[in-house]
Amino acid sequence: MTELHRLGREAYIDPVWHEREVDQLFLNAWCFAGITSDFKEAGDYKAVEIGGFPIAVVRNKDGDLGAVHNVCRHRGATLFDGNGGNIGKSIVCPYHRWTYGLAGELRGVPDKQTCFPDLERSKLGLKPAGLGIFKGLVFVNPDPNANFDDWIAPIADQAWPHDLYASDVREAVPLVYDVKCNWKVFAENAIDGYHLAYLHEQTLGGPTPDKNVWEQAGDHMIWYANEEGVRHRLPKKIRDENGKIGTIKSAQQAGFGGVYFLFPLTLVVPTPYGLSITALKPTSASTTRLTIRHWVGPWQSLDERKYIQGFDKKTGIISSDNWTRHPLETGDFQTEDVWICEKVQQGLQSPAFELGPLSLGPGAEDPIRWFHRSILSRLQVSD
Ligand code: FES
Ligand SMILES: [Fe+2]
Repeated sequence: MTELHRLGREAYIDPVWHEREVDQLFLNAWCFAGITSDFKEAGDYKAVEIGGFPIAVVRNKDGDLGAVHNVCRHRGATLFDGNGGNIGKSIVCPYHRWTYGLAGELRGVPDKQTCFPDLERSKLGLKPAGLGIFKGLVFVNPDPNANFDDWIAPIADQAWPHDLYASDVREAVPLVYDVKCNWKVFAENAIDGYHLAYLHEQTLGGPTPDKNVWEQAGDHMIWYANEEGVRHRLPKKIRDENGKIGTIKSAQQAGFGGVYFLFPLTLVVPTPYGLSITALKPTSASTTRLTIRHWVGPWQSLDERKYIQGFDKKTGIISSDNWTRHPLETGDFQTEDVWICEKVQQGLQSPAFELGPLSLGPGAEDPIRWFHRSILSRLQVSD
């Protein structure tokens, strides 16, 4: 029964499975890369990696945003460094100084007459990647022909109302986590409606599965809590307009909160007071980097990193390697989630691991079934 199929242990630990995902799933996967105001001037760029594909988003001299594979067409050096910045008027490879225009066209090759007399520049522009914009958010896809409208359509008319440019939210310093688990372990935890009242008893405190709803929207999923569960809609640490913690009492007061899982690598979490967007970067079969950009209300700290257990000032990365307290004593649900994901990965590594039962219901573990179905529909594996 394909409907109930659950991915086996190898899907979470096997490098061959991971390569298969890169070739068959991530090769055509949309992921959040930035917001339109990251690219104000010509040459402004963001460098991202989508499931193993280095990609850069660049504003070109005509003012258009484009996405290219961040791979030199000569011997493959990456061209854009760090997270982002301004690349200048052209893209110059540091290795042999091949020079590309901001739209990726190959402009110049040093010593062309002697070294490459027959080279046709028009055939060696940077490879294009797909790009789409929704509510000011920029998404990219390694496949230049991928259809963004088809991908975003299922949530387009039920998305969060947040307008990052019209509201008074400000962007806080991004959070970067290195988590020792397969990307699917993290994704499955994010869509697991069964654990909220238990793992997060001291932080989110619920809701229990009966007050908790996940809806399918194409391959995407949208979570919200129903009326009785509404006081649990927001993390208790989010303050209300009077600066009080955990006093959200009604649906109206809570406004619009929820979680959007945009298959396969993006998580959008809107609250009445802000918005956070997590991009998952699978870095190996058993490791994942999370980059979280978030926008907060005027009363909230713009740099929360020092409050987060495991933050290393030198690297700027949050990791369990640097934990000093027990995760359940931190009062931070994200730390609790990282902890449990790493514990699940440890269990999956055991040859004694066997698939257990998945609970039923859209407020429990049905979303994990849907997630598996979406993955299996893209991979050439027998089930
Ligand atoms: S690798 Fe880029 S110019 Fe040689
Ligand atoms: Fe959680």
